Amino acid sequence: MLCSNSVAIQNDREFGIPQSTEEKVSELIQRMNLDEKIGQMSQLQAGCGHIPDHLADDIRHGRVGSVLNEVNVDVVNELQRISIEETRLGIPLLIGRDVIHGFKTVFPIPLGLAASWDPQLIKQTCRISAQEAASCGVNWTFAPMIDISRDPRWGRVAESLGEDPYLCATLGAAMVDGFQGDKLSEKGAIAACAKHFAAYGAAEAGKDYNTVNVPENELRNVYLRPFKKLADSGVASFMTAFCDLNGVPATGNSWLLDDVLRKEWDYRGLLVSDWDSVIELSVHGFTHNDKESACEAVNAGVDMEMASRSYKHHLQQLVDEGRVDLPQIDRMVARILTLKFDLGLFDNPYTSAADYPALVNVDHLEVAQQSAAKSCVLLKNDNQVLPLNADQMSSIAVIGPLADDDYEQLGTWVFDGDPHHSVTCKAAIERLVGDKLDVRYCKGLQTTRSESCEQFSEALELAAQCDATVVVVGEESFMSGEAHSRASIDLPGQQVALIDALAKEGKPLIVVVMAGRPLTIENILDKADSILYAWHPGTMGGPAIADLLFGFQAPSGKLPVTFPRAVGQIPIYYAHKNTGRPVSDVNCLSMADIPERPEQTSLGMASFHLDVNYRPLFPFGYGLSYTCFEYSGIRMARQQVALGGQVEIVADIKNTGHCAGEEVVQLYIRDLVGSVTRPVKELKGFQRVLLQPGEQKTITFTLHTDELAFYGRDMQLNTEPGSFQAWVGGDSDARLMIDFDIYDDE
Ligand code: GLC
Repeated sequence: MLCSNSVAIQNDREFGIPQSTEEKVSELIQRMNLDEKIGQMSQLQAGCGHIPDHLADDIRHGRVGSVLNEVNVDVVNELQRISIEETRLGIPLLIGRDVIHGFKTVFPIPLGLAASWDPQLIKQTCRISAQEAASCGVNWTFAPMIDISRDPRWGRVAESLGEDPYLCATLGAAMVDGFQGDKLSEKGAIAACAKHFAAYGAAEAGKDYNTVNVPENELRNVYLRPFKKLADSGVASFMTAFCDLNGVPATGNSWLLDDVLRKEWDYRGLLVSDWDSVIELSVHGFTHNDKESACEAVNAGVDMEMASRSYKHHLQQLVDEGRVDLPQIDRMVARILTLKFDLGLFDNPYTSAADYPALVNVDHLEVAQQSAAKSCVLLKNDNQVLPLNADQMSSIAVIGPLADDDYEQLGTWVFDGDPHHSVTCKAAIERLVGDKLDVRYCKGLQTTRSESCEQFSEALELAAQCDATVVVVGEESFMSGEAHSRASIDLPGQQVALIDALAKEGKPLIVVVMAGRPLTIENILDKADSILYAWHPGTMGGPAIADLLFGFQAPSGKLPVTFPRAVGQIPIYYAHKNTGRPVSDVNCLSMADIPERPEQTSLGMASFHLDVNYRPLFPFGYGLSYTCFEYSGIRMARQQVALGGQVEIVADIKNTGHCAGEEVVQLYIRDLVGSVTRPVKELKGFQRVLLQPGEQKTITFTLHTDELAFYGRDMQLNTEPGSFQAWVGGDSDARLMIDFDIYDDE
């Protein structure tokens, strides 16, 4: 169906002269008046299932470039019709939605997806999410969120891809590929959005929206890396962050949004604010009022204002006053229109759901289950309690507040998920082994936050009667996500007490944790025989977990974030600096070690806490399998590599266990001396490898020396010659190491 009234766009075929998008955009802008241009720069909240009169009126008067949060396809089509048939120029709308980890089919939360370390699988989940969203008229998602997050108190760590720039960039790019496909105008492709630009995850105290102070060097070497990768990978849009960044709120930060993003990176995609983040510039105390905020945001380069109306109310006057120049407005409108052309909206802005696969179809659910299984991380498995063998059991107790909750397992940011499609752990275990085992269930606690232990007796009775107990605990989905940070990251309520009581029954105890963040679970470590960390696993979390518990699949997930022992260790992450007094097993002190005459000892002059072991509970990259892997034979073709050459690191990995298993082999590099201090390790590669029992494979990592570049004191990106170390292993505590040098042969 063609736009019936887009007078501005001469149909290419009429003249036989194919116009470039640039020409079409330029021609259209020349026809637009300032009101219409400003209209394109406004994104408004939709009516969520109906069209409020004020919205229809704004659209008719060309005052809207985009709406967000409408997913009723008939309503979306009507919004598009009004915009095309009842306006002077017939410009279609961008329809935005937070399609974060699924649409109707819900996949694991992004932090869980990151634990799969599987870019292809993640791309597939985004492809499905895009198709489902597009079938409802959505053409723009506000994802992926690629904020580096090293503070699990922060609620939005759930939405992130973890603490590491390399992993986050790699997986974020895979998400963009999944959402955008090969061509934005393809059916089922939607525009992606790299957010929140920038360093939003470094909020002080892990409190959402809080102040961020990150030196430029750290900003460039850590927080901006994933954004640069996505800018170079063709992400269609960026979104500004809420936070005050080094004293200049990101949404009004011209150094970030213009000097870096436009001038240095030459990024040409659309830049949208976050919800009300333009008018919040005055709340920050960065401007006096909405008019000043609009001026700062537009001059910094924020093309489109989300939700608030300062552009609509003040841009005309700001142009008249000469404080915003018209060429700047034209450049911004050009980026908005370019995205609309790229999406094919001028050719066909309407959606027919019949053109798409059914929502939540069996294929989508299969991928949901596979991604949930690959996201689970086995943290402990003493005495190989897992996998359970249903043939050697007669009963199993399934207990816990999250064992049969179809909503909570979906996690945060699931606007369109439907818990009716969820399959819980209890239901899945019954389906999988209910024909062989007596599956006994009770909650044990009403919710994860319950302080009442009145249901414990029933739970303990079941545990006593059954051969093994699976207890599903963790956080409700509300405890993570936007504005939902926690000062303590312990298991809430009386869950530890429940686990403690169950452990005393003396039967095999398997703890499954569903959470939106790392939790400080050292207090259950000695009580559980096995611990499986499932994050919030989405629609098919139950079958995925059941398959893993009974060995139909083997766990292969790896942690994308460091697990602290105590919240007081935060921030704690593997890619830390060495400091002048690095801690080791020999120079740290514990409270028990404090000598009678402390002043007489020189022990303990290092970087650690007296009252908690200096190591994390579980390191970045950690995850067990049902088999074991042995690494050996690390070697390099050349240990002297010229700048500009290839660094090739080879190692052997063997499955020394009794069952097949997938391992994520990880490569870490250290630059021993730099013009600025460098982390003790940095992830520079990973490969998933499947090994049969006894099988050995050789893994090769090849890097260009440019991949070891960092921003020095001069804020230039360079690889500095010198000595390096490389590790290959199954987590960031890898021990297999080799030295090499990079030299400058000029
Ligand atoms: C929210 C979030 C942002 C989201 C937007 C639209 O406040 O910060 O990530 O995309 O508003 O829902």
